[in-house]
Amino acid sequence: MDTLHARTATTGTAPSPSATGSLFRPLGGALGAETDALDLAQPLDAATIEAVRAAFREHHLLVIRNQTLDKERMYRFAELFGPIENHMIRLADGSKWDAVHTITNLDAAGNPVAKPFISSNYFWHTDKSFLPEPSLLTMLQAVELPPDGGDTQFADMGKAYDALPDAMKRRIEGLKSVQSLEFMRRYTGSAPPTEEDIAAAPPIAHPLVRTHPETGRKSLYIGMYSARIEGMPEEEGRGLLEELLAHATQERFLYTHKWQLGDLVFWDNRCLLHRAIANFEMGKHRRVLMRIVVKGTVPN
Ligand code: OGA
Ligand code: MN
Repeated sequence: MDTLHARTATTGTAPSPSATGSLFRPLGGALGAETDALDLAQPLDAATIEAVRAAFREHHLLVIRNQTLDKERMYRFAELFGPIENHMIRLADGSKWDAVHTITNLDAAGNPVAKPFISSNYFWHTDKSFLPEPSLLTMLQAVELPPDGGDTQFADMGKAYDALPDAMKRRIEGLKSVQSLEFMRRYTGSAPPTEEDIAAAPPIAHPLVRTHPETGRKSLYIGMYSARIEGMPEEEGRGLLEELLAHATQERFLYTHKWQLGDLVFWDNRCLLHRAIANFEMGKHRRVLMRIVVKGTVPN
């Protein structure tokens, strides 16, 4: 779009966003849309809530700029999308997360540490795919950021599925992959789960291709928890999973979020992969995001 066009498009009286569906504008990459026209500290009317839900279905990731929500307000907004997820897995320091928690690169004394606290966040994944009912949506709000970097990257698994050759679509139809917390910890070089964690979340098979319950669109359901393919020799299954992941994370399926303070970002774990990018001086700068997760349903 030329600049004149871009400029004229934003002049004049702004139409009611919820009436026109123009509340969100697409972001640069393969997915996602943003708005700076919402204040989530105020109650939203029904039409606006529906506009947000529709944009979420269409773009899979939404960025709402300039928010300063406290825990309570963030909880209330997230709840519009479904029941809030509780967190059962213990962190390295033995604690469990609250419904609204923070992800940071800080140690117990509040100082930045060079090594990421949760190193598995730097591998492609979809949240909690090792559970019978994996996460629907994850929401982050940027509270403190490094001067630059600390990006988060997203990949559109619907587009990735659509772009597969027909022969591959036929090959993977009906297959299930086994999702395993234990495998993930090994794969990402993280501390092994405790007996208690394994007992609470034993490996579980989910469809390799899942159908979005709201849009009916098919997408690849893969990532760091995908250990093997059910009923397939281990090596062959690993090969297939790595091939699909390499295909699905090509540049043309990606959006990279460069955080601004006050960004409230939420994405659809049912049809996206995501990962943190270690592109900032982790031992020097603080990165603090508030986080809450909406619980999903059994993938089909
Ligand atoms: C998450 C996550 C990535 C990041 O919160 O689930 O993977 O960039 N975060 O912090
Ligand atoms: Mn995650």
